[in-house]
Amino acid sequence: MKTAIIYHSFHHENTEKLVQSFLDGIDIIPAKKVGDINLAEYDLVGFASGIYGGRFAAEIDEVIKQHSPELKRVFLVYTSHSDNPKYGEKMKAMLQELDIKVVGIFSCRGYNTFGPFKLVGGTNKDRPDENDLREYREFMEGLVK
Ligand SMILES: Cc1cc2nc3c(=O)[nH]c(=O)nc-3n(C[C@H](O)[C@H](O)[C@H](O)COP(=O)(O)O)c2cc1C
Repeated sequence: MKTAIIYHSFHHENTEKLVQSFLDGIDIIPAKKVGDINLAEYDLVGFASGIYGGRFAAEIDEVIKQHSPELKRVFLVYTSHSDNPKYGEKMKAMLQELDIKVVGIFSCRGYNTFGPFKLVGGTNKDRPDENDLREYREFMEGLVK
């Protein structure tokens, strides 16, 4: 199954750490470098992002906007301060409105020093951790096998 993960991760590279921890023939592509790659060549496309202001990165929205007719089956991966399931549900609903099938969602907490949290040394220090990476691997194995 030809799989790509398109990601945006800038705060502490938390999301990048996750997606780089399980490669297994997957094309890992920064959202800003997707350009005119034809995503229809992939059986499965993952969108991975930190959560910024309650949403996936605008860079991910832009790829979806430009490439939605090419997307068949999609999965979502995100890291955030609160690990609120609503972030994934909101993105899933948006994709479903475009007739894109969402076949899985993985999320975990990520180290966060945004805004006032910086003053207390941040939240979720050392996340994603070994346990998160193991759960992510299990999620990915379930998807691609
Ligand atoms: C500008 C900004 C806004 C954020 N907004 C939220 C938010 O609305 N909800 C939340 O749970 N975490 C929020 N966070 C925390 C990040 O989602 C979290 O640290 C994430 O793991 C960052 O991923 P990254 O290192 O891959 O960029 C925010 C972080 C930043 C920098």
